[in-house]
Amino acid sequence: MKKYIFGNFKMNMSLKDTESYIEKFLPLVENSKNEIVIFPSFVNLMFAKQKLTASKVLLGAQNVSSETFGAYTGETGAFMLKSVGASYVIVGHSERRKLFLEKSDVINKKILEALGVGLKVVLCIGETKYERTNKKYKQAIEKLLADELKGLYENELKNIIIAYEPLWAIGTDKRPSTKEIEEVALIIRNKIKQEYSENSAKNIKVLYGGSINSQVAKAYCMAEGINGLLVGGASLNPQEFAKIANV
Ligand code: 13P
Repeated sequence: MKKYIFGNFKMNMSLKDTESYIEKFLPLVENSKNEIVIFPSFVNLMFAKQKLTASKVLLGAQNVSSETFGAYTGETGAFMLKSVGASYVIVGHSERRKLFLEKSDVINKKILEALGVGLKVVLCIGETKYERTNKKYKQAIEKLLADELKGLYENELKNIIIAYEPLWAIGTDKRPSTKEIEEVALIIRNKIKQEYSENSAKNIKVLYGGSINSQVAKAYCMAEGINGLLVGGASLNPQEFAKIANV
């Protein structure tokens, strides 16, 4: 079955680095049946799009403004991302929540902005170490989903991908077991069933992210209820990310 393999470059790579990355990466994934998406920084998006035109690899942005347009210095609107060729946008990454203090109401607005222009949204959710240790992760995940998908119509869920990224697993070389991520995938689907329908619960795409590398990619990708991977550090090396993308 087709898997969704996404590479979040975070704040890495100059224009030149992006060029050389894409030139190395594309030939390595040209036969992949998976949906592969790279998420470079805003300033490299347009250039990356030009380099990707002859390939099936898609482009995504790492963030989007919660406002539509106008006097918001330093912000980037959803329509701008769409206009330079992005297909996806990451919303609610834990680094944005933690370092830039993004809360659920703003994340909800960002999702609505992105969907409004036809972007697909990768909504990142996950529990803290404290919530995991104290068995509060189910509650935490359900609350994020309820607050951040507020106001979405069922037919919009086809443009939402949920990325389960436990905060304690990002950039740490620690990760939950495949059994633990299967449990969370089920928590996510049950919440979608409760809020929407059984059909949506079955069809929604759920990814796992957090300390994925090419050694563990296959096992995590094939876990029950998991449709793919959101990769950070390991996506910065084109050979390593190609191995993951070809699972
Ligand atoms: P790492 O793969 O570096 O742990 O990062 C995961 C992540 O944050 C992807 O969005």
